[in-house]
Amino acid sequence: MNHKNSETLFERAKKVAPGGVHSPVRGFRSVGGAPVFVERADGAEIFDVDGNSYIDFCQSWGPLLFGHKDPEIEEAVLGALKRGWSYGTAEPYSLEFGELLTSRIPGLESVRFVSSGTEAVMSVLRLARAATGRNKILKFDGCYHGHVDALLVRAGSGLADMASPDSAGISAQTAADTLVCPLDDEAAFELIMNTHGKEIAAVCIEPLPANNGLLPQRIEFLKRVAEISKEHGSLLVFDEVISGFRVALGGMTEVTGIRPDILCFGKIIGGGFPVGAYGGSQEIMKWIAPSGPVYQAGTLSANPVSMSAGLAMLKKAIHDNPYPQLEAATKAFTQELSHLARDLPFESSMQSEASLFWMVCGKASTAPVRAIGQIPETQKALYSKVFHAFLDEGLYFAPSGYEVGFLSTAHTPAVLDQALERAKRAFKKLK
Ligand SMILES: Cc1ncc(COP(=O)(O)O)c(C=O)c1O
Repeated sequence: MNHKNSETLFERAKKVAPGGVHSPVRGFRSVGGAPVFVERADGAEIFDVDGNSYIDFCQSWGPLLFGHKDPEIEEAVLGALKRGWSYGTAEPYSLEFGELLTSRIPGLESVRFVSSGTEAVMSVLRLARAATGRNKILKFDGCYHGHVDALLVRAGSGLADMASPDSAGISAQTAADTLVCPLDDEAAFELIMNTHGKEIAAVCIEPLPANNGLLPQRIEFLKRVAEISKEHGSLLVFDEVISGFRVALGGMTEVTGIRPDILCFGKIIGGGFPVGAYGGSQEIMKWIAPSGPVYQAGTLSANPVSMSAGLAMLKKAIHDNPYPQLEAATKAFTQELSHLARDLPFESSMQSEASLFWMVCGKASTAPVRAIGQIPETQKALYSKVFHAFLDEGLYFAPSGYEVGFLSTAHTPAVLDQALERAKRAFKKLK
């Protein structure tokens, strides 16, 4: 497959943007090579500047439940554009959206719209600190919550130790306020909470971790996390930026029956436009300005075009209930992929939950893989080979072995059959 035009654009892009991209994983550093430059997308497909098309399993990293350029969302966006695209004052669209969300999401009584998942999580930490009068935050190793300073940290050298910055530019003092606990480990969580619980404002978790591979958690573990957090008076934050409206309309909150104190949303909630949101009970949300003393604002918050896109997405999700069909299609697709992968010269396995999936490349110590320590060391190197073989056959998977894949309703049975044919050819080349 020829990528000449993409390569030329990438050389130009590197001159005007760090690494040539505007979000790091897009730079293909993890898998090597130059990113493909996409000039249009439709349904399950993306089309690059060299005239190549790919069946897209990245789907803009999750927001596109109905595939690219869904006609109902397109119509809503075009309608919104005709009414003007930013008012900077109260408008009815976020009201309708807020009413819909609070009527459908368990435990969500009041919601604040922002412009990204990062912004939602960042605001929630401030809220939790104000509401509890505490400073420390606990996160889990292997969960990603956007590029919020306090959460862009990794575990220290021992359990219940101070975390270390996971990016240059994060002060040691900021990292010191965060504690990092392994996933899938009740005993470790209990130990940290028994030591520091009374200082911890928020326990922040992706209830379906999907940013270091797909690491499904046992329901008993999630329930213990909720119970122990409550015992210590720490607020439980479910970061449902990926899982919200993806695993079910009510996200993991609905699936697990657990009621977190605060919820964060992003991705699907904007229908492919920049929207994030956070919320919880009236009691907790009244801390937020102008009701309360926690300041949080945004020039483009609840932008009418983004609100219209998100509303159209969620109304369609309510009307169509695509979840059972998506889950069944994902299960069947990944089973077939596993079957085809049996001829590869290395061991691999597929993990899937709802319409998310992940290919484990190498011999995992456990099945399923639930914590980052269980991911094979070969993951990055072997996935890179699979990624390029797929790309060459017209399959676009996430350009990192630690990112998950997504199905949308645009991945019809015919599209998935075609994808499996292409995967078969790709695997043959890797033999
Ligand atoms: C679970 C989770 N939280 C937060 C974020 C940050 O969202 P955004 O990229 O919109 O800032 C992400 C992004 O991938 C995410 O997966």
